[in-house]
Amino acid sequence: MMTTATCYQPTGNLPTPFANTPTEPLLLRALKGETLERPPIWMMRQAGRYMPQYQAVRKRHSFLEICHTPEVAVEVTLQPLQQFGFDASIIFSDILIPLQAMGLELAFTDEKGPQFANPIRQVDELKRLHSFDPVTDCDFLMKSLQLMRRELEHTGIALIGFAGAPWTLASYALEGCSWKTGRFSKQWLFEQPEALHQLLATITAMVIDYCDAQIQAGAQVIQLFDTWAGNVPTAYYQAFVQTYQRQVIDALKAKHPTVPVILFVKHSRGLLPTMASLNADAFSIDELTTLTDARSLFAKDTVLQGNLDSTALFMSDKAKLKALTEATITQGGRSHYVFNLGHGVLPQTPTENVALVVDTVKNWRW
Ligand code: CP3
Repeated sequence: MMTTATCYQPTGNLPTPFANTPTEPLLLRALKGETLERPPIWMMRQAGRYMPQYQAVRKRHSFLEICHTPEVAVEVTLQPLQQFGFDASIIFSDILIPLQAMGLELAFTDEKGPQFANPIRQVDELKRLHSFDPVTDCDFLMKSLQLMRRELEHTGIALIGFAGAPWTLASYALEGCSWKTGRFSKQWLFEQPEALHQLLATITAMVIDYCDAQIQAGAQVIQLFDTWAGNVPTAYYQAFVQTYQRQVIDALKAKHPTVPVILFVKHSRGLLPTMASLNADAFSIDELTTLTDARSLFAKDTVLQGNLDSTALFMSDKAKLKALTEATITQGGRSHYVFNLGHGVLPQTPTENVALVVDTVKNWRW
C-alpha cells in the first residue's frame, strides 16, 4: 500500500544488485561513453496500458489523476521495473502536463487521445499561456521525482525526467490534439511566422525551466521528445524546429554540464545529418534507420539509443524476436549505446515478449 507523501516510505521491493552499495547506474555509464559488458535497457512508454497492473490502477484513477498524484505516479513508474528489471526508470507523466499548467484545458479520452478544449488559433490567444513556475505549478511532478529517487537508491537504476521539445508542444497547442494534417501549425508556419516564433520562444523558456526543476528534484537524465518534428517541411526545419531544440539543449548543458540530454525525433530519417550538429549527449533513433547507418552520421563519441521496432514485440516466434534483439545490440555496439525501441511500447503488447527482450539484453555479454 502507498502511504501519504509526508510519511512516504520507499517500497524497497526493487532488485538491489549490491545491497547498500552505491552502484553507478549502467545508463549513466553508457551515456558517458564507457565500454560495457552489455548495454543498458529501458523502453519508451515502459509503463502503461499493456501492463495489467497499470490497467488495475486506471480502474481507480484517470490518466491525469495518476500524473497529478505523486504516490500513484510512483506506483505505476515502479511497475515495469518490478516486473521486467529495466535499467532505467522514466517518470510517469506526459509531455502535455506543462501546457495544462500554463492554461490549456487538457482532457484524455480513449477514442481521441489528448485534446485541448481551448487551443491557440488566433495570435491574440497567445496570452492564454500564462507565466509558469514549474516548482509550484508542477509540484506533483517534482514530488514524484523526489520519491522515485528514494526508491531507486542503491538499485543501479537511473531516473529519467522528460519534456516535449518546443515544436511538438507548439503544434499540440495549435492543433488541440495529436498531429493529423497539421493544418493549424502549418498555417502559422506559412502565414504568421513571427507569432509562431513568439509561441516557440515562450514554450522554449518553459521547457528549459521545467527540465531544470526536474533535475533539481532528482532526474539524472533528461529526454526531449520531438514527436512531430519529422512533419515539418525542410525549408522551415532549421528555423522552427532545430533552433529551439538547440536552445533547450544548450541551456540545459550550460546549467547542468554533467546531466546527459537525449533527443528523440520521430521519423528522423533524412534529418540525422543536421541533428548531428546539436550538443545532445545521445540521440534516440527510430526503427526507420539502422543503427549502423545512424552511427556513420554522428561523431564517434555520440551515444545512440534504439531501435527495435515496437511492433516486433507482437511476434509469436520467440527465437526470431531474440535474434532481432541480438542483431540490434550488435549494431548498437559495445560502447556509446543504449538499448530501446524505435518508439514507445504499444497497448496490447504481450508482456512475455517485453520480458524476453529485457532478459536477452541483460544476458548479453560482449
Ligand atoms: O513510460 C513512459 O514512457 C513515461 C510516460 C509517458 C507517457 N507519455 C505516458 C502516457 C511519456 C514519456 C509520454 C510522452 C508523450 N506523450 C509523447 C512523446 C512520445 C511519443 O510517444 O511520441 C506524446 C506525443 C504524448 C502525448 C500523448 N499522451 C498521446 C498522443 C497519448 C494518447 C495515445 C496513447 O499512446 O495513449 C497520450 C496518453 C498517454 N501518455 C498514456 C500514457 C501511459 C495512455 C493513457 C491512458 O489511457 O492510460
